[in-house]
Amino acid sequence: MSVQTAGAERRHPDHPSAGLPLEDAELTHAGPGTPMGELLRKFWQPVCLSSELSDLPKAIRILGEDLVAFRDHAGRVGVLHRHCSHRGTSLEYGIIAENGLRCCYHGWLFDIDGTILETPGEPVGSPLSDSFRHGAYPAREFEGLVFAYLGPPEEVPPFPILDCYVEPAGNRLVPFSVWHPCNWLQVHDNVMDPVHAAFLHAQMSNIQLTESYGEVPVLDFADVPNGIVYIGGRRIGDHVWIKGNHAMLPNMGQTTALWETANSVKYFTGVSLTKWIVPSDDTHCWMYGFRHFNEEVDPEGVGAEDECGVDSVDFFGQTGHRRYDESQREPGDWDAQVSQRPIAIHALEHLGTTDRGVVSLRRMLRQSVRRERDPLADLKAQCTSALPVHTYCYDTVLAIPPRAEGDDREFLRELGQQVVSALMDAEDYNGEERRAYLRQRMQQIEAANQ
Ligand code: FES
Ligand SMILES: [Fe+2]
Repeated sequence: MSVQTAGAERRHPDHPSAGLPLEDAELTHAGPGTPMGELLRKFWQPVCLSSELSDLPKAIRILGEDLVAFRDHAGRVGVLHRHCSHRGTSLEYGIIAENGLRCCYHGWLFDIDGTILETPGEPVGSPLSDSFRHGAYPAREFEGLVFAYLGPPEEVPPFPILDCYVEPAGNRLVPFSVWHPCNWLQVHDNVMDPVHAAFLHAQMSNIQLTESYGEVPVLDFADVPNGIVYIGGRRIGDHVWIKGNHAMLPNMGQTTALWETANSVKYFTGVSLTKWIVPSDDTHCWMYGFRHFNEEVDPEGVGAEDECGVDSVDFFGQTGHRRYDESQREPGDWDAQVSQRPIAIHALEHLGTTDRGVVSLRRMLRQSVRRERDPLADLKAQCTSALPVHTYCYDTVLAIPPRAEGDDREFLRELGQQVVSALMDAEDYNGEERRAYLRQRMQQIEAANQ
C-alpha cells in the first residue's frame, strides 16, 4: 500500500515501487471512499462462483473489504462483513444455519440481510440484537456466478441480462475466475488493446490462438451506448476479418471468438468471453466471467468446458499456474499484465498510436469518476424493458479480395466503418431479428466491395 502524505508524494521505502512516480490513484485505487471504488460499487459485481459456496463459508476480499459469502441451509446466498459484530471473530469459521450464519465464538446468528437473529448468551429480552445490524450486502446468483451489490442501499442498480447470454440459441454459459496479483485496471486495459494479440499471441513465441491473429490489425474505435468497441480489420488472403471487442463501463469486457481463423465467410458471430475485472484490493484482482460455448463461436470445438472453474479457464496463458521458465519462454496475457508492476504506473508509459483504445477507455473511466458521464444512467436506459441488453462484440469475415489499386489498409478501415455503421443501424431490432438484420447488412457490404 502506498503512503501518501499531503504535499509530499512518496511511498513507504519498503514498497516495491519506492522511488518511482505515484500510480494513477484516481483510476487504480478502488477501496472504500475512493472515487473509483465508489463508481464500481454502483454496479453488481461478481464475488465468487456458486460452486465455491459449499457446506463452509467462503472468505472473500472485494474492493478492499473483507467479507464472507455463504449459502444457508434454506439455499439463500449471503454476503456479510467478515468480522463478527460482537467481538470480531472471522465468520469464515462460522456455522451455516437454516437461516443465516452463526459465529463460532459466542453463537450469534446473522441473517443474510445482517439482521441479528440470535445472541444466545445474552439474557432473554436483551435489546442488544435490535440496536444495530451486521454489515450485509445484497447478493444474487446468475448462471453459476455469485454477484453482490456494495453500493448505497437506496440505489440498487438493474442486473443486466445481456443479449449474448441467450444468443445464439443453445448458448451455454460456463463460469470461471482467474486470480491476478496486480491492479485491476491493467487487466481491464487489455480488452481495448487488440495489437497485443498480434504480438503476444502470435509473433513473439508461439501461435497461442490462431495464425490469423499474427496480422497487425488496422484499428478504429467507436463509442457505443454502454462503452466502447474497437474495430480491428485484418487482411487474411482473399478475406477481410473485422473483429470488435467491447469494453463496458466500468469494469466489464467481452471478447469475440477465441480461435477465429478467418478462413471462411462469417456474416456476424458473437461473444466467447464475458468478463468482469473486480478489484480485491489495489494490488490484487479477480477476473470473473462466463465462457460462452456454442457452435457459432467455436465450430471446431477447441474450447473445454471442464477446464473452466475456480482460477482456471480453457485458453492459453490466462493463469499464474504455469512453471516460471515455461511462462518466460512463452508468456501469456497473465504474465504480461501481472508483470506491469503491482500497480502499472501510467506516468512511466510511452503510449503510441496502437494504445488509442486504452487511452479512450481510461478517459471514459476518468470522466465517470468525475461524474462527467454516468455509466449507471446509461445502463438504466438500456434496462427499461424486459428485453436483453444489446452488446457490440462481433466477428465478421467477408470474401473481399484486395482492391487492384489503392491502400489496402485504408480499405480495411473503410470496411470496418461500414460494419460499425450497420451495428448502429441495428439498434431498433432485438434478438434474432437484430442478428438477421446484421447478417444481411454484412452480405450487402461484401457484395458491394467484391
Ligand atoms: S465474536 Fe462472534 S459471537 Fe462473539
Ligand atoms: Fe490477450
